[in-house]
Amino acid sequence: MQCTWTEKVAHRSRGPVLLGIPLALTLLLFAEAFAGGEESAAEATNSCVECHGNPDFLVTAKKLYDYYQEWDLSVHRQEDVSCEDCHGGNSDARDKKAAHGTEVSGGLTAGSAVSFENIPSTCGGCHDDIYQGFRKSNHSAHLVKQKQEKQGPNCVTCHGSMNTVVLNVNTVKATCQRCHNEETGNHPEIPDTASDILNRFLSIQRYYRYIGIRGEPTETQAFFAVMDERVRDLSVLWHTFDLPKIDKETRFVLDLLKTKRAEVRNLKHTESP
Ligand code: HEC
Ligand code: HEC
Ligand code: HEC
Ligand code: HEC
Ligand code: HEC
Repeated sequence: MQCTWTEKVAHRSRGPVLLGIPLALTLLLFAEAFAGGEESAAEATNSCVECHGNPDFLVTAKKLYDYYQEWDLSVHRQEDVSCEDCHGGNSDARDKKAAHGTEVSGGLTAGSAVSFENIPSTCGGCHDDIYQGFRKSNHSAHLVKQKQEKQGPNCVTCHGSMNTVVLNVNTVKATCQRCHNEETGNHPEIPDTASDILNRFLSIQRYYRYIGIRGEPTETQAFFAVMDERVRDLSVLWHTFDLPKIDKETRFVLDLLKTKRAEVRNLKHTESP
């Protein structure tokens, strides 16, 4: 698959990642408010979206329409990542057969871009750093030729069919528990550990934001230059599912942030009586 998005993802991740999310959302809301007309004009030329978004399907093919609707609400749609970016096919052809061609097929077809074992590499077309991390994981090694309960999760298991979900400290436990529990005997301690780690991710975001907002830009610039990359690498590390290593690294990053926050706080106190 030809991917023109790698640069976009790489570019976005290079910025202050965690700080960038609310900012990006704000910009998006603005863009949405002012460029609504333009955007729908551009989309009207995409035959996949036009046909699959036909509300008649809501009645005649509800399941099919659900996929469209999920995509419609996703970050991917907001980022102009469309059907053909993941499924292949020709989004200029109006006719179904011509649009689907030989590339577009369902997840049960061997060799499909969205079959269970091919999903990670399809996503990796754009999320290359995360894919490289995932490939190192025990999960990746267990993707194929296993009974269901012995199978490793792929990207969709955790991110939902249309990848609208990013697990957080509240939702991660239930997902891991589907396979890691007393009954399967497959490392039942993992869900709790994962929850602790994601809790630390959350703290990292909070401290990061605090320093970004309260810190003196001239004073924090060098700090963020180093931290941005470290924080971004946490996501890649997470996808290796090497929990002891992630545990250590998240503690380390959090300690750095705590120290910096204390500095920023003290500076504020001495400056403003
Ligand atoms: C003119 C209407 C039309 C167009 C254009 C169209 N599709 Fe479909 N698509 C359908 C219908 C209807 C189905 C339900 C299954 C079937 O009838 O083949 C479907 C099924 C699918 C499936 C499930 C396939 C399976 O075997 O389960 C995928 C994935 C899909 N389309 C993606 C796309 C993509 C990507 C594009 C653009 C490149 C596209 N479609 C263009 C009408 C369309
Ligand atoms: C970011 C990648 C991505 C985008 C963008 C995307 N899809 Fe999908 N789609 C997937 C994946 C992965 C699956 C398999 C989900 C699963 O196994 O649960 C899937 C499954 C489907 C299915 C069901 C196939 C089956 O096996 O029955 C349909 C239909 C479908 N997508 C249509 C679309 C349409 C239409 C669009 C655009 C409006 C779209 N998708 C956009 C990744 C994507
Ligand atoms: C054509 C490029 C492309 C493909 C293919 C793609 N993505 Fe994305 N994805 C993006 C872009 C661009 C963003 C938004 C920028 C970012 O967060 O990196 C994004 C964001 C995400 C997010 C973050 C969502 C959020 O709420 O913050 C997740 C999770 C995700 N993608 C998962 C997937 C999965 C799983 C697949 C494969 C089924 C996939 N992506 C395929 C381009 C792509
Ligand atoms: C679809 C099932 C499934 C889900 C869901 C799942 N895992 Fe796994 N996981 C596996 C399988 C299978 C293995 C391989 C176990 C083995 O080596 O026997 C594994 C192994 C692991 C290992 C390596 C254990 C070791 O010491 O070798 C870690 C860590 C892990 N998973 C973490 C997680 C986390 C965290 C989650 C939730 C975010 C999760 N898993 C969700 C199936 C799953
Ligand atoms: C076992 C569950 C699990 C699997 C499998 C998984 N992820 Fe994730 N993913 C998560 C969790 C939890 C987070 C939130 C923590 C983080 O930001 O790293 C996340 C975060 C992300 C993000 C957002 C990172 C950011 O910068 O906010 C993207 C993009 C992503 N995953 C893509 C993928 C792709 C692509 C795959 C498959 C190659 C994949 N994930 C496989 C659980 C999973």
